[in-house]
Amino acid sequence: MKKPVEIAVTGAAGQISYSLLFRLASGEAFGFDQPVILRLLEVTPALPRLEAVIMEINDCAYPLLQTIITTDDPKVAFDNVDYVFLVGAKPRGAGMKRKDLLESNAKIFSEQGKALNEVAKRSVKVLITGNPANTNALITQRNAPDLDPKCFSAMSMLDHNRGIGQLAEKCHVRSEDVKNMIVWGNHSETQYPDLNHATVEGKSALSLVDEDWIINTFIPTVQHRGGQVIEARNGFSSAASAASAAICQMRSWIVGTEINDWSQWISMGIFSDGSYGIEKGLFYSFPVTVSPQGEVNIVQGLEISDFSRKKMQATEQELKEERATIEHLL
Ligand code: NAD
Ligand code: LMR
Repeated sequence: MKKPVEIAVTGAAGQISYSLLFRLASGEAFGFDQPVILRLLEVTPALPRLEAVIMEINDCAYPLLQTIITTDDPKVAFDNVDYVFLVGAKPRGAGMKRKDLLESNAKIFSEQGKALNEVAKRSVKVLITGNPANTNALITQRNAPDLDPKCFSAMSMLDHNRGIGQLAEKCHVRSEDVKNMIVWGNHSETQYPDLNHATVEGKSALSLVDEDWIINTFIPTVQHRGGQVIEARNGFSSAASAASAAICQMRSWIVGTEINDWSQWISMGIFSDGSYGIEKGLFYSFPVTVSPQGEVNIVQGLEISDFSRKKMQATEQELKEERATIEHLL
């Protein structure tokens, strides 16, 4: 029997967690031979609601689940943890932009960054989902100066998977036939879903779909999908697909992209090293591969058209503006 891995999830009584926790406990994310310990963080008033979720998890009798710890103290939740899903944050409602959440959510991530800095394993992998995810990742990382910036990533996999879904539907293929999707930049309406390097059943996507569809349908659909889901769900944001993307990103980060089931490249919001001229230190979504040891490498050498360059810079600019509004927390 392997030694259990310790996984912290924040916002554990919320919508995304209602899908995520069951899949973590089942073994889907960390392997069907990997025992897990769940360390669940909630705000104090939500702890009774969390108890109800735990009743249901227990009713599943998951063989790999060793222990569940619940707490309203981030230092207890993150004590010696291996993996962290930072989900707990306010979601936006209809008519809001994700960056409108900065004011209410930023403080959560500065506090949790400090707690991670103090008590998490030095090899911890922290995935930031709470919105606006990229700038929250920046806040968390900057408040955890003793941890390597590579310990943090912002979630781009929902956008990446949305892009794959749209292209697969258009080309009447299965999602696994689509490779090398890219989402550049911020998890926001300025993100740039890029099909220039994508393939469908080994053929260039650009040879199968026309430019008009890419510019007027594909890009805006992926950019605005979150808002469309909120409208369709009468004010509630995506939850099951977000949990799925979180598992997809964390699992790829752990086992590598060579053997995962999803894609050869994935998109991850990571600490920019300056690749493609993107300012160093911003959390920006890049196309990456991950080695079996968990080392994340930005796909280098891609040809960037003028159209793409402008889109990549626009989303970079938005990240700089978001950073300026929370400078005091860095
Ligand atoms: P939700 O309101 O259902 O749940 C959020 C939970 O977080 C609540 O139970 C709340 O009590 C808890 N919480 C608030 N402050 C906390 C804190 N300081 N510590 C611990 N827990 C805290 O929301 P949800 O639908 O689960 O969404 C959560 C976040 O994820 C939102 O910000 C949403 O916009 C974001 N989201 C991001 C993506 C993405 O692709 N990055 C996708 C979907 C949703
Ligand atoms: C999403 O993309 O579905 C989430 O970020 C929720 C939102 O506010 O759009």
